[in-house]
Amino acid sequence: MDKITVIGAGHVGATAAQRIAERELAREVVLVDILEGVPQGKALDQWESAPVEGFDTMVTGAQSYEDTAGSGVYVVTAGLARKPGMSRDDLLQKNTQIIAGVAEQIKLHSPDAIIVMVTNPLDVMAYVAKEVAGFPRERVIGMAGILDTARFRSFIAMELNVSVEDIQALVLGGHGDSMVPIVSTVSVGGIPLSQLMSADRIEALVERTRKGGGEIVKLLGTGSAYYAPSSGAVQMVEAIARNKMRVLPCAAWLEGEFGLDGLFLGVPCKLGRGGLEGVIEVELSDEERSALEASAAAVRGTMEMLQL
Ligand code: APR
Repeated sequence: MDKITVIGAGHVGATAAQRIAERELAREVVLVDILEGVPQGKALDQWESAPVEGFDTMVTGAQSYEDTAGSGVYVVTAGLARKPGMSRDDLLQKNTQIIAGVAEQIKLHSPDAIIVMVTNPLDVMAYVAKEVAGFPRERVIGMAGILDTARFRSFIAMELNVSVEDIQALVLGGHGDSMVPIVSTVSVGGIPLSQLMSADRIEALVERTRKGGGEIVKLLGTGSAYYAPSSGAVQMVEAIARNKMRVLPCAAWLEGEFGLDGLFLGVPCKLGRGGLEGVIEVELSDEERSALEASAAAVRGTMEMLQL
């Protein structure tokens, strides 16, 4: 891939750009922000690490989208963090405006690009981008499930003292509180988790995963998680850039899968050169199905508050 753009040169965006460059997923990475000098400064600093880290991906910074023209993928992390006194609704409206503006520019300068949405509230911001850009569902995908499963997998690895690499997990649904972990699919080196951990401990780790974002926010004092979120976004970019056909939990626009239609929700997705190459359905228990429906209702509730 020639060019990948990251919108928002904050914590998540800058870390994502660095990981993309270090893995040489494109010839060039462009970092865009409204702040004067910040994307240029971070990009130059990253590029100056290239001789030591040994990568040839050029990193540049910009305020203007003209410099991003022809990008194959846009990772969108632009947004406002919630400030004291700001309601969730205020944040929703602000980020909606920001993402609508970003999507318009992407459409104008790179009409064939794939958008990887990271800004929260994730499922709804992915919808805003899809509506405004007018892209088909193959080319707008949200990063959520990879982060939620990574948290879950990291907690399981700590508890069992085994390699994180051997843990497979699947989380469906909306990002955050309403996520739906499919515990029956979790395995450790192919062994079902239920054979290695008590139901109580599994439930405790599920609960910790559900509140994983909040745990980091509390520890940091200001700001929210960015190392793991940027890893999740870059894994999606890598699957697309290297046409890997990876099966990853991502937020996809549903058109009847899981009996749901007309919203973004976390589901198992196949990612390759075309972006979303397919949604893979899994059998759910009655309990999992009703949890997924509740999660969908929560996402729809937020969608209804939008003023697009
Ligand atoms: N265009 C480009 N960049 C913008 C715009 C815009 N219209 N509006 C804001 N930004 C930039 C800000 O200037 C800031 O540099 O987006 C960046 C956001 O960075 P941070 O505040 O550091 O936030 P970050 O921790 O990176 O999180 C970004 O990702 O995981 C989600 O919930 C998180 O929605 C949040 C997003």
